[in-house]
Amino acid sequence: MTEALHPLPRALPEAASFRDAMARVASAVHVVTTRGPEGRAGLTATAVASVSDSPPTVLVCIARPSRTLAVIEAAGLFCINTLPGDALDLAEIFASRRGIEGEARFSTHDWKPLVTGAPVLSDAVAAFDCRLTAIHDVATHRILIGEVVGLGGAAAAPGSSLIYRQRSFQAV
Ligand SMILES: Cc1cc2nc3c(=O)[nH]c(=O)nc-3n(C[C@H](O)[C@H](O)[C@H](O)COP(=O)(O)O)c2cc1C
Repeated sequence: MTEALHPLPRALPEAASFRDAMARVASAVHVVTTRGPEGRAGLTATAVASVSDSPPTVLVCIARPSRTLAVIEAAGLFCINTLPGDALDLAEIFASRRGIEGEARFSTHDWKPLVTGAPVLSDAVAAFDCRLTAIHDVATHRILIGEVVGLGGAAAAPGSSLIYRQRSFQAV
């Protein structure tokens, strides 16, 4: 790595200040799903980004204690389902806020496999079905890189999208 142009400050910003700054940033809300030998699993995530279109590649950052992370790593596949504006219930279920675990998280909406076998939300704004191609450990999280092998979601033009901003959900 090249030397910094300016001397680095001695103290980093506090974690709480960093979280407050990030809370100002509006993020699309996704449910990242997978399927292992024990069934389907998924979690709510906003730390998702497009990486490249050739080959189509995305990334998602997942905290190491996540149960879904272990299933994704073992199965080598995942799907990023970008939520429509009326899917607040799904965002809360998959963030473990409703006391619903494992397979039962999938009972309120229609999910179908596409290419990899990971569950694809039928009315997602967009769905990116991925083969896991790389993993990078950074601090408390793992960055998963996925090659997009299938595209799914609602056939019609998207209506509203669910976003998370200032620690609450909104449809935009
Ligand atoms: C709006 C929102 C965004 C979140 N984004 C992420 C994320 O990007 N990565 C992550 O690891 N967890 C994220 N979480 C937390 C997980 O959804 C939560 O820890 C979940 O319970 C993990 O479930 P699991 O242990 O069944 O995998 C987010 C939660 C909320 C409410």
